Order: sequence, then C-alpha cells, then structure tokens
Amino acid sequence: MAKSRKAIKEKRARDDRGRMESELKKRFGDQGGVRFFRAPGRVDWLGSHTDYNQGLILASTVDREIVVGARLRGDGALNFYSLDFDHEVRASLKNNLPEPGHGWANYPKGVIAELAQSGISLPGIDLVFAGDIPIGANLSSSAAIEAATLEAVIGLLEQPMTRWQKAFTCWRAENRFVGMPCGILDQFTIFNADKDCVMFLDCDRLASELIRFEFKGVKLLVINSGVGRELVRSEYTQRRKECDAAFSALRKAGFKISSLSSITPKQLPKAERALKPLLMKRVRHVVTENARVCEAKEAVRKQDFKRLGKLFDQGYKSSSNDYNNSTPELDLLHKLLSKRKEILGARIAGAGWGGCLVSLASDPDPAALESYLRESYRKITGREVKLFPVETGEAPGELK
Ligand code: GLA
Repeated sequence: MAKSRKAIKEKRARDDRGRMESELKKRFGDQGGVRFFRAPGRVDWLGSHTDYNQGLILASTVDREIVVGARLRGDGALNFYSLDFDHEVRASLKNNLPEPGHGWANYPKGVIAELAQSGISLPGIDLVFAGDIPIGANLSSSAAIEAATLEAVIGLLEQPMTRWQKAFTCWRAENRFVGMPCGILDQFTIFNADKDCVMFLDCDRLASELIRFEFKGVKLLVINSGVGRELVRSEYTQRRKECDAAFSALRKAGFKISSLSSITPKQLPKAERALKPLLMKRVRHVVTENARVCEAKEAVRKQDFKRLGKLFDQGYKSSSNDYNNSTPELDLLHKLLSKRKEILGARIAGAGWGGCLVSLASDPDPAALESYLRESYRKITGREVKLFPVETGEAPGELK
C-alpha cells in the first residue's frame, strides 16, 4: 500500500516535471536546460504561537512539497509561473518590490531580494512551480515556496549556505518583503527537520534536536476545515502585540524575565495579579503550551501515543479558550473527532483562524473517518471537509 502510494507520487512528479519544463520553455524561451529543486511543507506537533515568544516547539516536515523548475538567464528578468494557479508573473532585478497583484510570487521575489541584500545576486532567473501542499491549510505552502526558491537560486549559483542562513533568509523574506510578521517555526523546521524525525526546537537558544520517529500503529491526520484564513494576518499581528504588552506589564510588575517563555507554570498566579484578564489568557496559553511541548517530547521518545494525543487535546483547548485562534468549524471538527475511539487527540495546525486540525490516530481507516466527518460537517456548516494522512518528508534539495 505504502509502495503504491510512493509509486503514484513518483509518477505524478515525473509528469509534473515534464509539464513544468515545457511551460517554462513555452513562456520564457527555449534556450537552456532546466534543473529541479524541492522543499517540503511542515506540520507543528505542539507549540502553538510559542516561536515569537522564545518558547518551545515540536514539529516535522511533511511528505507534501513544492517543486520548482529553474534556469538562470542573463538579462535581469525574474520570471515566475505557477502550474497550480495557472498564474504568470514577470518582474525584474532592477525593480524587485512587493506588489499585491503578484500574490504568491511575492514569496520567491522576497527570497531573491533578501539574497541580493546579503550579496548573492543573480543575472536573472526563470522559475516554474508546482506542488501538492494544500493552500491555506496551515502546512506552510508559502514557506515551502520560499525554501524551494532559495535551494534553486543557490543551487544554480553554486553558492554554499548553512541551514541556519537558509532558514533566516526565508524568514526575513516573509517578514520584510511579504510583510507577515511570522516567527521562525516554518522556515526553521523546513530546513532543519528531516525524514523519519520530529524536531524539538528551543526558539530562545535556537537549539534544535531531532528525535527519530516511526509511524508504527499510529498516523498523523490532517483535517482541512476548508475555511479560508483571511483573518490570519490581522489576528496574528494583534496576538503579537498582546504578547508584547503582557511582557511589558510583567516587567513593570517586577518579573525578571527575558520573554513570556521565562515564566514558569508556578508563577502564573502571581502573573495573574499583574495582568488584565485578556493578556493573562495569552500568557497562560504560552506558559502551559511550553510545558506541554516538554512532555510531548518525552512522549515521542517513548512512543507513548496515548499521552501525546492527550497533549494534543489539551493544546487545542488552550488555543481555543485562551489564545482564541480557533473557528466554529475547527471547534465542530474537534468535537466530532473526540467521539471516535481511534482518535487519540487533535489540535489546531499552524496559526489557526481556519485551516486544519492535526490529529493523532491509532490504526485509522482514513476513508471511513472522512465519510463520518463529511456528513455531519456538511449538514451543519454546508462545507466540505478533507482528510489526509501525512508522514515526515525529505529535507529540501535538488531533484536528480
Ligand atoms: C504561523 C507562523 C509561525 C508560528 C505559527 C503559530 O505558522 O508562520 O511562525 O507563529 O503560525 O505557532
């Protein structure tokens, strides 16, 4: 079964590459060979909104990816085409600025701009993208576009870079060029995690550890609510402001802390006396989530999936009640899932405010589970739910 899924994927990849190469040549000129690079998406296992609070994370790559066909050109043009959006964008090195109409292409443009800032400049490039990471599902298709672009540019230029440099270049592209004030979770995971591993990251010390992991008798399921994430940017920025405000208030009240993640669970009652109720909710989420990540790391090590599932559920509750990054649709899906005996736990993936739940399940039948969810979910919301298992994915690199 696993083999046939792999064979289907490989065939699709070969077909896609053929289409990508012919689109690239048709649109941007016939001359020159095309090379292919790829980067996986990521899924966070625990550690919701802890990254920009210098906290802890457990995350992995997924076996879904963005592939890019790439070729240098000498005339300063930056040409982009997405097979999935059927959208072409033409820009130039001279005038490489973010433009709302360029949509998804602002991510590769940002990476090229950041590389230029650090002295790695291109003579021009053609890039054609395709992928199987669902858009808007919180599996970081945008960070995977950034990572695949970076691999292509430095691969074609034969420019070495460390994993850290790669992660931070993409992170800067997203923060400074695209204007999304994200933390380091997505880019760091994509460049530092790997197949058959779960990554533990301490965002304060930027120290990471890979824990070997095999899906034995257990699966990670992504359950897409199909609800867009229009609110992500504004709500995300608002949460960051609230965390900053809580940090300042606690410092004023005498807490000798360097971030919200320096607070221990025992200090929470004291923090409560110094904070307004809304800010206290945000702090409680960050502090308890860090503690859950520590426990989850041990649960992964011991392959204690029951424990891990419970921690997923506790993380979900904390997100929904204290960080308020759930939606009625995600809440409904969580409720439906909790009635199933094969489900060990489920939590909100990525930023939240729509997108997916990620769930741990023992020996599930994904098709049966999807049809159970589909009926109730459609009846109540009028929307379609999609469910698919994910495994860990290969680190970014060139496709040979
Ligand atoms: C998004 C951001 C990440 C992180 C998560 C929430 O995915 O890009 O940096 O903050 O949300 O944990």
